[in-house]
Amino acid sequence: MKSIDMNKLRATIPFFKDIDQVLLEQLVPYMREETYKKGEIIFHEGDEGNQIFFIRSGMVSIYTSNKAKRITLAYLTKGEYFGEMALMQPGLCRSATAETLNAVKVYSLHRSDFHQLVEKDRNVPFLLLNYTMERLRKANHQIYDLTFLNVQNRIIRRLLDLGKEVGATREDGSCHIPMKITHQQLADTVGAARETVSKIIIELQEQELLNLSNKKLTLLNPEALINKLND
Ligand code: CMP
Repeated sequence: MKSIDMNKLRATIPFFKDIDQVLLEQLVPYMREETYKKGEIIFHEGDEGNQIFFIRSGMVSIYTSNKAKRITLAYLTKGEYFGEMALMQPGLCRSATAETLNAVKVYSLHRSDFHQLVEKDRNVPFLLLNYTMERLRKANHQIYDLTFLNVQNRIIRRLLDLGKEVGATREDGSCHIPMKITHQQLADTVGAARETVSKIIIELQEQELLNLSNKKLTLLNPEALINKLND
């Protein structure tokens, strides 16, 4: 098996940037590189969890569902990690499903090796806490949006967030989102029916605020979308 390049690991995954060099050298041989195709389930909600995953490339959708509906909790991308929650205590199951949105490469680390990191490097609990607080902040926003905003504003807010997280702003002020997104995926992130989302997307396109064709999304006028949100 090809060994993992430490410099590349530190450069790709911010989590490893400040980890003690000697400790990381001890752990790297236990780390695995895994590759997933588009649409693969990495694990299901409720599964027993024994690994944490660090994303080298690609995008992963984290969602929870019942028989009829799914709500997307987050899209995670290069440099981020997932699967740490089930590792914190023995007996905890996966709190959500992880599914790839495109081809994904990850580094994975087994529970016992991850625990060594947590126990031996004083930085690690702070890194985990920081990241968890950031996720909690986002989850609180999601609760707010689901409770207080109508579907149109939930969509606008979600698209503006995506623009901030992964978008590329062009000279004319428009923002291209470099991921393929379907009406169904958007519906799953805002807790609405696909038909409702399609209708609103068409309205926003007619108002020349965005363009979604061939699953490619451009926010034509982010400024005007923000104004619409605040109306
Ligand atoms: P775990 O419970 O092991 O498996 C599902 C993973 O999804 C979980 O660990 C976290 O890494 C991640 N996760 C769960 N909820 C959220 C959320 N609200 N936002 C981002 N990631 C989450």
